[in-house]
This record gives sequence, structure tokens and C-alpha cells, in this order.
Amino acid sequence: MDLKTVQAQVDSDLARIVSQQDLEDLRVKYLGRKGLIAQLTGSIPGLPVEQRGSFGKEVNALKNKLLGLLAEKEKSFSLPQEDLNPGRFDMGMPGIAQELGHRHPITQIIDEICRIFTRMGFAVVSGPEVETEHNNFTGLNIPLEHPSRDAFDTFYLKDYNKLLLRSHTSPAQVRVMQTQKPPLAVVVPGRVYRPDAVDASHLFMFHQIEGFLVDEHIRFCDLKGVLELFARSIFGPEIKMRFRPHFFPFTEPSVEVDISCIMCRGKGCSVCGRKGWLEILGAGMIHPNVFIQVGYDPKIYTGFAFGMGVERIAMLKYGINDIRLFFENDLRFLKQF
Ligand code: DAH
Repeated sequence: MDLKTVQAQVDSDLARIVSQQDLEDLRVKYLGRKGLIAQLTGSIPGLPVEQRGSFGKEVNALKNKLLGLLAEKEKSFSLPQEDLNPGRFDMGMPGIAQELGHRHPITQIIDEICRIFTRMGFAVVSGPEVETEHNNFTGLNIPLEHPSRDAFDTFYLKDYNKLLLRSHTSPAQVRVMQTQKPPLAVVVPGRVYRPDAVDASHLFMFHQIEGFLVDEHIRFCDLKGVLELFARSIFGPEIKMRFRPHFFPFTEPSVEVDISCIMCRGKGCSVCGRKGWLEILGAGMIHPNVFIQVGYDPKIYTGFAFGMGVERIAMLKYGINDIRLFFENDLRFLKQF
């Protein structure tokens, strides 16, 4: 067995390899215990002494070359073969589905309500949840010592002078009117806070949507028209409305607005407490003192305002009897919307 024949054989053998098995056979043929390399090494003692060193070196070089070539060959077809191995990769297997989220029911109702008002020409504006004492109270004609403050009491920030969590979205009236001149028509959705004990109809945090419109010659019938269109759009064309006299410090006259019960259509049931009517919002003509505070002339401008609780509207619309369900993050509830 001479070195040159072996070398030539290696090249032609390598070219013929097509599988892992061929590769293994080749490894045995050359590098196995009785392989050609072993035979060549075994022939060294039979050589003349002066040839042994150089022959041994050449055999060693051939062995290393062979190892390199076999490793390279292995790499070249072991990768795709591994990927196509049916036990590891099944092209027919269904993928892992990504679950798609959706908007929270409260966000959906806010969007629906805002859409109704933007169609009537209202702009959607937002205000901060941390408010000044002035915007939440004084600017809205609720003086410091007035008993009506109790109804809108809130959480106060300890270390910041006169900052609080807004207890209604009405402070946005003050912010918008301080920076813009009439005519204006705006709705303001957002979170509000009150130190209420939590039960099926109360939370310390909930959502409101404030709306107001100011221009010359705005009258109470404009308020009625806007609110009636709103109620029909959200609850259906048969809905009836009722305006009851009420008191709010920031409007005069003030009303509470009821809709005919959507469960019994006005006949009287447990949802409406046998009254046939459900209260949905407060409203009125903006008080002249609010205009004076923001620098509007109440002899020129008039306007209306209204405020509604989003959770209440959602509960009526979907027949939900516990406000806490909205914020427990129970997917069995949330997935229904
Ligand atoms: N801010 C009132 C509340 O939280 C709701 C309200 C009533 C807003 C009458 C108004 C309004 O703009 O005119 O109960």
C-alpha cells in the first residue's frame, strides 16, 4: 500500500458520499482500527530507518487532512437532514395561535359615545386626573365652605398644595374655557375618583364623560335636542327621555335626565325600581359664575353642559348588575364584549 494510491482513493471516495451512512463507512475504511491509515502506520517498522521519519510525517498529514475533510462533509449535509427529520419538524402541524386582545368594554362604550358626539361636531379633549382645587371646585362655582362640596369630595395629595384627584370631569370645562374662546363644543372622557365604599354600584374610581357647548344664543332646547339624539343613538330609537329639575352648583337651571327603562320599556321592573325610568346623567345651562371665572361675558355667551357615568351607561346597555365586574380583570367576563 503506497501513500499516493491511498491519497487518490480518498479524493474519489469523498466525491461519492451521499448519506450519513456513506460517511460512516468511509471513516471505518480509512480511520478504523484496521483501516488504511492504521495499515500505513503499521508498515513503518518495515521501512528502511532513514525513510521512517518522513513517511510517518506524511501519513500523519494525510490522517489530519482526512479528518478535516470528513468533518466538513458531515457539516454540509447534517444540517438540512436534521431539519427535515419528520420526528423533529412536521410541516403539517398547526402553528401556535397568538391570542388577539380587544378593547375593554368601558373603552368600547367611551369610543361609542364620543363617536356619537363627534358626529354632531363636538371635539374630544382630555384633562389630567390630578387637578387643582380651583378647577375641581371653585372655578365651577363650588365655594370652599359650601355644602355641595360634600357631593364631589375626593382624595387629596398630601405633599402638594391644593392638588387632588378630580372627582368629576367637569374641571375640563374650566381648562378648555380658560384657553379657548367660543364657539366651542367639547366632550371629555376620563377617570374620576371619590372616597366611596365599594359595593355593587360604587367604586372609588370610575369613568365619566363631560360635554359642553358655548356660543351666543344657546338655549335649553339645544341641550334637549343634543341629549335626545345621543340617547336614541346609544339605546335605540324608541327610547323616551325625561328632564327632572335638580341642583348642580355649576349649572342654572339644572336637571337630571332619565330614560325610559330599557328592560321593561317604562312599565316598571326590578331594574328601574318599579318607576319605569332610569337616571343617566346630569345637565343644565352653564352658570354665569363659571363664565365670569374664565373671563367670558355671560351677557354675550350662554351654553349647556352635561356629565354622565360611563359604567352606569354600560351596565344599563348590557344588563350588568355589579360595577366591580369591570375591574376584576376576569377574562370570562371581559371576553363577552
Ligand atoms: N359633574 C357632575 C357629577 O359628577 C355631573 C354633571 C352634572 C356635569 C351637570 C355637568 C352638569 O356638566 O351640567 O355628578
